[in-house]
Amino acid sequence: MSSDNRPIGVFDSGLGGLTVVKDLAKILPGEDIVYLGDSARVPYGIKSLATIRRFAMEDAAFLGRFDPKLLVVACNTASAAAIDAITATAPCDVVDVVRPSAAAALAATDGPVGVVATEATVRSGAYQRALAADGAGREILAVACPLLVPIVEEGRDGDDPIVTHVLCDYLRNLQRLRPGAMVLGCTHYPLLAGPIGKLMGPATQLISSATAAALDVAHRLDAAGMRHARVEGGSLRCHTTDNPQRFAELGATFGGRPLDHVEYVGTDELEGLVARRPVKS
Ligand code: DGL
Repeated sequence: MSSDNRPIGVFDSGLGGLTVVKDLAKILPGEDIVYLGDSARVPYGIKSLATIRRFAMEDAAFLGRFDPKLLVVACNTASAAAIDAITATAPCDVVDVVRPSAAAALAATDGPVGVVATEATVRSGAYQRALAADGAGREILAVACPLLVPIVEEGRDGDDPIVTHVLCDYLRNLQRLRPGAMVLGCTHYPLLAGPIGKLMGPATQLISSATAAALDVAHRLDAAGMRHARVEGGSLRCHTTDNPQRFAELGATFGGRPLDHVEYVGTDELEGLVARRPVKS
């Protein structure tokens, strides 16, 4: 059987993509993973699509240094804003989180589909397009939840009354829609799956964009005969554009295991990796 022992590159605006790493490690425990969390510039979801695209291209270029066999855009916001640009320039196959999540939601229900995501993801229309393309006639409601990424990056969880209060406000219209499936369209949100599930009720199946992406990675590696030769014991090497100690402490909650190897990389270094277009005067 053929194999490919190069690492998988994974990036997110911050810690959220570690939920994808957690699912990847479960499904593909033999794979080496190189992760970049752009914590100095998080959140991406409140920025313009042009700025998000620039950041995402820099993140992808950084991971290109590690000769990845596959690149995972473990950020719905970056996937929504930049997947075409990243795919056009990446040295390897690219997996995004939006398409697999939309497909999983449509497969889970014949009824209405809800999406919770960042402001930029909702504004981009990426989920609405992906769901409408294969689910013509479905009722779709995408709701922006801009406070959730800072709440999760802050390490707050479902027992926190602030979290419940914010979720009650964001989920009101989705509760009225009674969707058969609802996409957690931000890789930070699986950490709030408990309280979100409680508010939506058992008739709504929650689709984690992290799990959907991890399953897509396994499928692609298998189809191309590119799994690592070893079946377990894969490594995780993390990079952050901000404080590595804080990243390691909070990241352990996200990834479900201690992060022993976190290195700093400056945003100035990332900026130098992608040629900027000259500013028109
Ligand atoms: N985890 C990112 C996502 O999936 C969060 C985006 C942000 O930084 O706002 O969209």
